[in-house]
Amino acid sequence: MTTLWGGRFTGPTDEQMWAFNASIGFDIRLAQVDIRGSIAYAKALERAGLLSAEERAALVGGLERIAQEFAEGAFALAPSDEDIHTAVERRLGELVGPVAGKLHTGRSRNDQVATDIRLFLLEELPKLGEMVRHLQHALVEKAAAHLDALMPGYTHLQPAQPARFSHWLLSYFWMLERDQERLREIVRRAAVCPLGAGALAGNAYGIDREALARDLGFAGVTENSMDAVSDRDAVLETLFWGALVGVHLSRLAEDLILWSNPQFHFVRLAERYTTGSSLMPQKRNPDSMELVRAKAGRLVGNLVKLLTVVKGLPSTYDKDLQEDKEPLFDTVDTLAMALPITAGVIETLEVDVEAMRAALDDTLLATDLADYLVKKGVPFRQAHHLVGQAVRLAEEHGVALRGLPLEALQGISSAFGADVLAALSFEGSVEARDVTGGTARRAVEEQIHRARERLAAS
Ligand code: ARG
Repeated sequence: MTTLWGGRFTGPTDEQMWAFNASIGFDIRLAQVDIRGSIAYAKALERAGLLSAEERAALVGGLERIAQEFAEGAFALAPSDEDIHTAVERRLGELVGPVAGKLHTGRSRNDQVATDIRLFLLEELPKLGEMVRHLQHALVEKAAAHLDALMPGYTHLQPAQPARFSHWLLSYFWMLERDQERLREIVRRAAVCPLGAGALAGNAYGIDREALARDLGFAGVTENSMDAVSDRDAVLETLFWGALVGVHLSRLAEDLILWSNPQFHFVRLAERYTTGSSLMPQKRNPDSMELVRAKAGRLVGNLVKLLTVVKGLPSTYDKDLQEDKEPLFDTVDTLAMALPITAGVIETLEVDVEAMRAALDDTLLATDLADYLVKKGVPFRQAHHLVGQAVRLAEEHGVALRGLPLEALQGISSAFGADVLAALSFEGSVEARDVTGGTARRAVEEQIHRARERLAAS
């Protein structure tokens, strides 16, 4: 087997070792970006006087043809193709002859693969951002459509205070908005070109790195060749980003799984996002959301995988870094499924406003009862305590909070007046919280307005 690096070897690589070492099985996915990098590098070599115009044209022509072969699924792998870089170079030799041997002048697979990965990120991250945006859009529009649906808001998964369903939907919009912000930062930092860093020490042929970087659409060049060939921060940040998006999606999924349970029945997932049971004929399971919940584990795992690989690596490039690609591809692919599925679930979600309303019970108004006393001049701490007594009394009598006779309330505190009943309602409760970020209709409308502004600006 002929390898790129065979000169100093006397015999073949162990067969198992060859398979263990090869990355073509997965880095073939970098074919197009690898070829783009090579085309730009051939032009840089010409500018540096290392290739004639004819040689450059031959190389670029050959590379374009290889790109075409990959695009058509016509590229034939050879047993000697260790990774995507060697596969392309091998094929280039077949197509254009010995001049192919000039392409790698001053370049190493170390700066080449670092460049490929960044080009891959710059291509894929905006697509993921677009998918997040689509989900955000679905959340905002659903919120706008259900402004008046009230439901119990929970803390500790225990009924806490009345809230608008739309407010709950929008809470996920803002999580995802922070993810969008983070994504822009990752893209910004990823947009520097490592090509010209060589194996670790830089390029000895006077390559114009800035022009090369511009040619490839990068915003700048890496500052240190030793760092450049081993820096996988952009990959790690992407994996962290994916993990956090996954965690956000998993929480949304969990809420919907719970609320689609018939005992809640607040929402119903569209049939197309559920599946049945092979044994129990009545079942309609929220598998879409269960899988989204589970994918978070996978996404977190990908992050931990690569962090663990990079930890303690001696500078600069080490073969360990070859392990960066599979978790990266998996995170990208996992999100590319989970995000549109979640958006689809939200878009098609049926909302049972009546069931939500039926779940509102008077204990959710306990805080409002305390607020009532505060308005009558009772210090909040004391009001809290007094309402606690009222809640206990109602429990003892088996009545709702608003079912307690005025005399009973006045037995607890003389601050309770005849106007107390009128002060207690679910609408009144959400409307009272008329601050930015609160549950009042006006506040939620303002939130929707700002959310739409963000979407329009991105
Ligand atoms: N397949 C390798 C990777 O993915 C390419 C770089 C190999 N460099 C080397 N010095 N062996 O990391």
